[in-house]
Amino acid sequence: MAIPIFDTIRSVMRFRAFERDPALRRLARCASVEDLRELARRRLPRGVFDYIDGAAEDERTLARNQDAFGAYGFRPRVLRGVGETQFATTILGRRIPMPLICSPTGFGRIAHSQGELAVARAAERAGVPYTLSTLGTRSIEEVASASNGTKWFQVYVWRDRGLVQEMVERCKVAGYQALMLTVDTPVFGRRERDYRNGFELPPKLGPDTLVDGALHPGWTLDFVTAEPVLFANVVGREVGDGTSPVALAEYINRQFDPDLSWKDVDWLRSIWDGPIVLKGIQTVEDARLAADAGVDAIALSNHGGRQLDDAPAPLDLVEAAAEAVGERLEIYCDGGVRRGSDVVKALALGARACMIGRPYLYGLAVGGEAGVDRVLEWFHDGIARTLALIGAKSIEDLSPESLDRRTTPGG
Ligand code: GLV
Repeated sequence: MAIPIFDTIRSVMRFRAFERDPALRRLARCASVEDLRELARRRLPRGVFDYIDGAAEDERTLARNQDAFGAYGFRPRVLRGVGETQFATTILGRRIPMPLICSPTGFGRIAHSQGELAVARAAERAGVPYTLSTLGTRSIEEVASASNGTKWFQVYVWRDRGLVQEMVERCKVAGYQALMLTVDTPVFGRRERDYRNGFELPPKLGPDTLVDGALHPGWTLDFVTAEPVLFANVVGREVGDGTSPVALAEYINRQFDPDLSWKDVDWLRSIWDGPIVLKGIQTVEDARLAADAGVDAIALSNHGGRQLDDAPAPLDLVEAAAEAVGERLEIYCDGGVRRGSDVVKALALGARACMIGRPYLYGLAVGGEAGVDRVLEWFHDGIARTLALIGAKSIEDLSPESLDRRTTPGG
């Protein structure tokens, strides 16, 4: 005779299949970029997490970047037949499935040994451009051989212009499609978390960091068993390639040229035939000068709040920049972009695409390449869902009228 209690238990219990892969197990506990950030905070040694997560001085701009998105609500329209939303777009002449770009971020392999190659491969799968940083821990050539996707290269202007020219030539040979010149770093921002932590790159394991390392065994095992982290684009060069750890502020202030000016934009134009994106435009006046200089795109950006504290949130510049120069060049926006709905807001104000940096680094830190895939999927699904919920069938249906500017940020 069946014992009824067992039937009842059987009917109410569901066992999820046990996920054997620890990275996928960690990812299964995350539903948002903020969840990934929280797990990354626990998984990474403090100095590494703070370098990625932190920003300049009082970090007001870091907060403002994200708050700016909260300051806009939507004006959802209904009954509009949104069965098939369409949000593929064209960026610098190439069709891509969603209006998103992976921003350059330095030192990818400190988040996870798979580093830049993982991000480039995930970006290729998602069909979005990947921008390799000058300060990447995989080289121009290594990334090119790992990914056939759209690849851009971020340029810092070294005092040694020959080094820049050489990197540009390497990009041509390796088939990169665009250069992104960062213009907000004439000198390095003061990242006070890094000062407090005495953080150096590449991170080192020594007597002072042993406890931190032991408290983060997953990261430490990955770090010590992978090949050493170097500044892969300048290996063996006298500027310093990370063989001896450096405080980044000191390195950048010594190596990058604070005299960077519009003349350098012309110079870059003279040695590169392809598209040029200026990253770090923070006023409408400079957006106009960028259009006059003939660049193909600007990224409204304050370097994720890592350079000048109290710089404006990029989202707050989008509408005015689009009115001023939207017909002459493409406008991208980064800083605080954490969800598909953020992308939709920037597009409604006139941006062509958004760029993300920290979100994919948190994903990389938690789940390696699968973590980056997850973040890009969330953005894709979030854009689709938001368009449907506000009654927009496509990007063309978006305008500032899709949004409601709230008076209290985040309110
Ligand atoms: C490098 O560009 C950084 O922001 O740390």
